[in-house]
Parts: sequence; structure tokens; C-alpha cells
Amino acid sequence: MPMVTAHDVQNDPELNAFIAAANGQLAALGYTEHGHRHARLVGQRAAEVLRRLGYAEREAELAYVAGYLHDIGNLIHRQSHALSGAMLAYQALTRLGMPPHEVAVVMGAIGNHEEEHGAPVSPVAAAVVLADKSDVHRSRVQNPDPAAYDIHDRVNYAATDTRLTVDPNARVITLEVQIDTRYAQVMDYFEIFLSRMVMMREAASLLGCDYHLVINNVRLS
Ligand SMILES: [Fe+2]
Ligand SMILES: [Fe+2]
Repeated sequence: MPMVTAHDVQNDPELNAFIAAANGQLAALGYTEHGHRHARLVGQRAAEVLRRLGYAEREAELAYVAGYLHDIGNLIHRQSHALSGAMLAYQALTRLGMPPHEVAVVMGAIGNHEEEHGAPVSPVAAAVVLADKSDVHRSRVQNPDPAAYDIHDRVNYAATDTRLTVDPNARVITLEVQIDTRYAQVMDYFEIFLSRMVMMREAASLLGCDYHLVINNVRLS
């Protein structure tokens, strides 16, 4: 049986319709962008984290698949979207012919990506957490009215550059964020991202790494 590749998943019409629908629904509710841009970026970053740390190429590819699909559950409802997304991925990946032991890894990673209920349970899950929580950027704001920005919009809008780097020798994973303090304060970032930062540290730890956070060139953890 041929392996189901990241390319197969990325070019599946049903899954792409689902990602578009999930983002459309969140946009209607005024949430930040969770569409194809976020999906591809999280997939790429998750795979890259595992590659940099020397994990097998297939594991990195599964991290791409899990990262690409992690938010599709939002097409049903924002609440419990990690769980609904894992079930949607089960059906789609099984249809594409992915073997159950690989589907299980992807499902576990998707099901555990949110900080309220999730925990990094495998290298693939940890990589998806690091990639997802590191995607803070101006381009994610899709609320058309700056006067109506909530704190999530303001912090994302203020983030002009975000970089996730992996040092395989020092075993350090670093998130570097540039915040334009005309739009949000560093404290605003912490107010909404503290629980995500804790989860990123746990994810780095599962991968045998320390986690550093650098905001505006100042190391904060
Ligand atoms: Fe999510
Ligand atoms: Fe996400």
C-alpha cells in the first residue's frame, strides 16, 4: 500500500473544503485566521521541528499532516474542535488509505493541540503544539474593523515577526516575537498567551529540549 503523503492530504478536495469552511465559520465569529495559511504554516513548522531534532522523515511527514489538519474541527464548533477534528481526520485519512497506526498518531496530535484539554503526548503532538502556538502574526487578524479589535486581534496585529528556531546541539527551542508596542504591550501578550507558553515548554520538554521565549530581543524564559 503506498504511503499517504503530505501532498495527498494537501490536495484532497474534501479536506480543503473543510479547512476553508472552518476558517469561514471562525471569521464570521470574528476570530483570527485559521485557514490554509495557518494550516500550511503549522504543518511546515511541525515537520521542521522534528527534522531538526533528527526524528525519522516519516514522523516529520505525519507531523505535517497533523499540523495541516489540526484545526478542521472548527467547521463544526470552536468548542472541542480538537476532538471533532481528530474524528474528521480519522475518516479522511482512512479513506485515503493511511494505516491505522499512523492515523492514531495524527488523531492523538490533533486531539491534544489545545491548551485547555491537551497535553503533548508524542513527538508529533509536541511538534504540532510548538508550531501552532508560535503562529502569532499580524496577517492572522481578519476582523475588518480596527476599532473593534479584541485583545487577540491587538496582540496578533502587534506581532510583526515571529520565529520558531531549533538548536539541535544545545537542545533548545526558541520562540522569538517582535511586538510593535504601538498596538499592544508585552504584558498583553502574556495575558492571553501564558497558558500557551506553559504548553510550549511541556512540548519542548517531551522533545528533550529547553524552551526559551524572546520578545523584542529580551529573553523572558
Ligand atoms: Fe486549534
Ligand atoms: Fe491552530
